[in-house]
Amino acid sequence: MSSCSGDDGLPANYQWFSNQIAGHHPSVIKNGKREIGLLQISGTSECLKPKQDASRGEKEVAIYKLMSSNNDELRNYSSEISSEFSTCEPSDVQQLRNLCPRFFGIRKLFVDGQDREFLILEDVTANYNLPAILDLKMGRKTYDPLASREKIDKESIKYPPQAKIGCRLLGYRIHSSDKTVKVRDKDWGKSFDENTIQNGLAEFFSARGPDSRSTVIREALNSLKSIRQFFETQKSFQFFASSLLFVYEARENLPTNLRIVMIDFSHAFNSNGERDEGYLFGVENLQKFLENLL
Ligand SMILES: Nc1ncnc2c1ncn2[C@@H]1O[C@H](COP(=O)(O)OP(=O)(O)OP(=O)(O)O)[C@@H](O)[C@H]1O
Ligand SMILES: [Mg+2]
Repeated sequence: MSSCSGDDGLPANYQWFSNQIAGHHPSVIKNGKREIGLLQISGTSECLKPKQDASRGEKEVAIYKLMSSNNDELRNYSSEISSEFSTCEPSDVQQLRNLCPRFFGIRKLFVDGQDREFLILEDVTANYNLPAILDLKMGRKTYDPLASREKIDKESIKYPPQAKIGCRLLGYRIHSSDKTVKVRDKDWGKSFDENTIQNGLAEFFSARGPDSRSTVIREALNSLKSIRQFFETQKSFQFFASSLLFVYEARENLPTNLRIVMIDFSHAFNSNGERDEGYLFGVENLQKFLENLL
């Protein structure tokens, strides 16, 4: 356990993760307490995601541990939640692993006066000179099968087009050579509907200049193929309120290196032999939106 907290409530050497797009963030104060967001140690290619409370945190840890189950340290892990996923097809787990950031285990840290657990993840934005990063929330429903009536109502009115298209822009960060960062948040994302979401996508994919947009989109379409293929075959998982994180190089004289990873598994469920049609629908629509921009 790291003990020497700085004035900002973080252990020495740690800082808030600067490339975070969506999710829990220290700028948000709820019931008088600030939220805990992702952390990083500057100069490393890892980021640390706080394990959320209750089953949400347990589920995410269980999924990442399942994907690392050839790791001895993790093989003995067992809990009620991990047994939820114990019947998942090994080939689905293997495929999922290839679509996610790498997982390096759990770290306990003392943050804001409290001991907390963090998932140590590969920072997928680390190997870029000027990263362009976009978070897309996937699926037709952003509430899970155990959600209360209140939660269902709250989620359903948040962004009605989600049910029609199966995806939503949560925001982006685009780094520029003049050291500025263009940031778009969830309100920007909500300003688009099923007819206009392409404009938001076009904006994100133009970071290398308008002439390069089609090249970047072709790379994205290529990467989306493996994600679609996974959802066409896998019958192990259902994901709710989960995201696709896109990242590519915005500096024009460097390779684009576009990558798409699946993140946020706090509402993952065993799908018991069913495909995740809501997520697949979102991927198919995304492909259509991007193809229309070519
Ligand atoms: N492995 C990663 N590499 C780089 N950035 C990441 C990674 N994982 C998450 N992020 C960033 O952090 C943001 C929030 O992540 P995530 O959606 O997993 O957390 P959350 O919404 O706070 O958690 P939860 O939904 O579990 O309550 C993402 O939008 C993304 O910008
Ligand atoms: Mg999230």
